[in-house]
Amino acid sequence: TPPTSLAIRGRLLSFEGDPAVEGPSVVRFWEDGTLVVANGLIEAIGESGDMLAGRAKGLPLADHRPHLVMAGFVDPHLHMPQTQVIASFGTELMEWLQRYTFPEESRYGDPAVAAAGSRFLLDELLRNGTTSAAVYCTSHPQSVDAFFGEAERRGLRMVAGKVMMDRGAPEALLDTPQRGYEESKALIARWHGRGRLSYAITPRFAPTSTEAQLEATAALAAEFPDLHVQTHLSENEGEIAFVREAFPWSKDYTEVYERYGLVREKALFGHCIHLSDRERTALAAGGASAIFCPTSNLFLGSGLFDLEASRAAGIKTGIATDIGGGTSYSMLRTAAEGYKVLALKGEKLPPLQAFHMMTAGNAAAMGLGDKIGRLSPGYEADIVVLDSEATPAQRRRMERVETLGEELFCLMTMGDDRSIVATYAGGRLLHERDKAPFHPLE
Ligand code: GUN
Ligand code: ZN
Repeated sequence: TPPTSLAIRGRLLSFEGDPAVEGPSVVRFWEDGTLVVANGLIEAIGESGDMLAGRAKGLPLADHRPHLVMAGFVDPHLHMPQTQVIASFGTELMEWLQRYTFPEESRYGDPAVAAAGSRFLLDELLRNGTTSAAVYCTSHPQSVDAFFGEAERRGLRMVAGKVMMDRGAPEALLDTPQRGYEESKALIARWHGRGRLSYAITPRFAPTSTEAQLEATAALAAEFPDLHVQTHLSENEGEIAFVREAFPWSKDYTEVYERYGLVREKALFGHCIHLSDRERTALAAGGASAIFCPTSNLFLGSGLFDLEASRAAGIKTGIATDIGGGTSYSMLRTAAEGYKVLALKGEKLPPLQAFHMMTAGNAAAMGLGDKIGRLSPGYEADIVVLDSEATPAQRRRMERVETLGEELFCLMTMGDDRSIVATYAGGRLLHERDKAPFHPLE
């Protein structure tokens, strides 16, 4: 595709830092702003009057007024092979894995199944305004080839990996310490750093890996110190009890991952609900990230994440869908449920903090804070256009809204895929509301 230059006009919102830490001065808002995209990057941004007479002059213009324009949403934890697991009835985590999830994931050794699942997932993420994600594939290397292939065709920045698991699941899903190591290494060679793709070392979680596999994982992680790591930590009481029995030498769940060198920068720990102070301190000291998955935690009855404790400990914290334990692809729905989980804890998630988390905050939690998550010159042109009045109920509520903060809170509380007017990634328009998905090269 030829390099594209275009201008995008609308109500532009971005975050130069974390408003929870640095206050409202980091919020950038242009009531009538225009940004210029060139070669997949944001080149300039400012007041429309200045931009249209200057840098944006003569460029094709996408005029999205009166809609909001933000950095594309970032989803730091989800499972590609679980698009047909969502809404499976009546179980907590360990039984949900055995009854629904493992049988479903067993199908993904078939490249056609993995390609169809990856295609659906990426179309659905774009339809929800999400342009980057940290993605678990299955233990089958083919599932990673399928996912990265589809991400590459769309020009998306994606982080993904082959799940390593060598016990506690059907034979079709198990690798071995040796195979998990070698297959991961071959996938790293094939995909890591290709275009916008990066590989994540992905041990599923301690209960499905033997100590031998965790040792092989430690060796892999040591060989590739700059790679992402992703796994699950302290989601559910039954899981924690299992870890206590399986690793009797460990004083808590987090120490298992510490022992194998996995608590480090760019290590993404899903859930982190039932942590002790010691565990939080260890995650912060290692530079790891905790990922809050509210719709999943409510759906599986796992527990209530403590955002204040995570932040107070100094842990980088993100918020994610966790498809398919999670029940929505929408980061708006996810933030809305996050707000409710925190309300049950007596905590607050103000709207500017929520929209920061969905964009720049999640990017920072993934170690990608210098590439995505902001509308700033030099950042990659991943952009979402949002309609605060997508439904009659929202139009009615908006009649009484006076501030940007109120508007954003209504948008996150009532919004969903219907709120997403358009999604751009790498400067290309990949989704428009009410239109069929755009499949380059098809
Ligand atoms: N822990 C280990 N695997 C999974 C998974 O697929 N989903 C969730 N929510 N937790 C997990
Ligand atoms: Zn998960």
